[in-house]
Amino acid sequence: MSDKPKDRVYIFDTTLRDGEQSPGATMTHAEKLEIAQLLDEMGVDIIEAGFPIASEGDFRAVSEIAERSKNAVICGLARANLKDIDRCWEAVKHGKRPRIHTFIGTSPLHRAIPNLSKDEMAERIHQTVSHARNLCDNVQWSPMDATRTEWDYLARVVEIAIKAGATTVNIPDTVGYTAPVESADLIRRLIAEVPGADEIIFATHCHNDLGMATANSLAAVEGGARQIECTINGLGERAGNTALEEVVMAMKVRGDIMPYSTGIDTTKIMNISRRVATVSGFAVQFNKAIVGKNAFAHESGIHQDGMLKNAETFEIMRPSDVGLTETNLVMGKHSGRAALRSKLKELGYELGENQLNDVFVRFKELADRKKEVYDEDLIALASTDAAED
Ligand code: KIV
Ligand code: ZN
Repeated sequence: MSDKPKDRVYIFDTTLRDGEQSPGATMTHAEKLEIAQLLDEMGVDIIEAGFPIASEGDFRAVSEIAERSKNAVICGLARANLKDIDRCWEAVKHGKRPRIHTFIGTSPLHRAIPNLSKDEMAERIHQTVSHARNLCDNVQWSPMDATRTEWDYLARVVEIAIKAGATTVNIPDTVGYTAPVESADLIRRLIAEVPGADEIIFATHCHNDLGMATANSLAAVEGGARQIECTINGLGERAGNTALEEVVMAMKVRGDIMPYSTGIDTTKIMNISRRVATVSGFAVQFNKAIVGKNAFAHESGIHQDGMLKNAETFEIMRPSDVGLTETNLVMGKHSGRAALRSKLKELGYELGENQLNDVFVRFKELADRKKEVYDEDLIALASTDAAED
């Protein structure tokens, strides 16, 4: 591996804005403040705290989060009109490091909604980004549905936004339509061909409609993006957004081929994942990468035996890397004698060979009837055996 310092990739978390937009995921004011504090403590670089014009509640949450944040840049979202941008600025301006994020849909389908011609939309972009930049020196601009926008028009409006003062240009894959090769190429081409592109940060913002959000975000980084937009547990509209824990752990575990660093303290991942699941009411699927209940659980005899000898046989990261205390060897019908012996020892039972054989037979009978055999079941089996001797 080379000694070259790793390029820094900024983590922009939008759990409280795009994540909260998932139907049914609304959080209370106190919950939003709590999640923002956890994100800040975890080392997230930019927190998109809400959409200030959307409601009084959103405005209050963004303002308070901006005032309380210790390290993170606090960002609010605004559509491409002066009223939205002014309201957003009112909400973020008391923070130490405010950002205005303004956006407009640039693809043919999205241009048809406000019924603007290409030239009219270009003029609107110039006017709104300039206005935001007059208020705040940290301005992010997004062409919504960028991945379905004609190349020529996308390049033209990105250039206009940069000239008007955008310091970050985000390229959203709003409907999860792109694929990794295309995601990398698009950013690479924008950086190479748009005048001024090398002076700003490009961001990637992916949705997971085809299950490619993580791969597309990492590919965009390969293409030159240096900000990934994501949410905890991949919370977000429809199939969700890029999951923060996935991109961060991918870059950490595969630093050999993705030499990028983030400011995230990964040991805080599990705790924030659980809090977001609880407050949003969106449970995490059992087999979800990194934070699912089974992500560090092993049931089959071969896997458990391997894990007991050397954890690297079936784990590419340590549970402690994400804030879990230990690997979970789940006792079920696929478990073997070695795992049973180890689990019983953990529970305080060191059985002789004959006793272990006997408990093992009864354990298998029980495991055939139950999906999972709990510690209490094992204690009962081991105690009965001890009493019979
Ligand atoms: O998905 C999207 O396009 C968005 C924009 C507002 C950035 O969330
Ligand atoms: Zn989005």
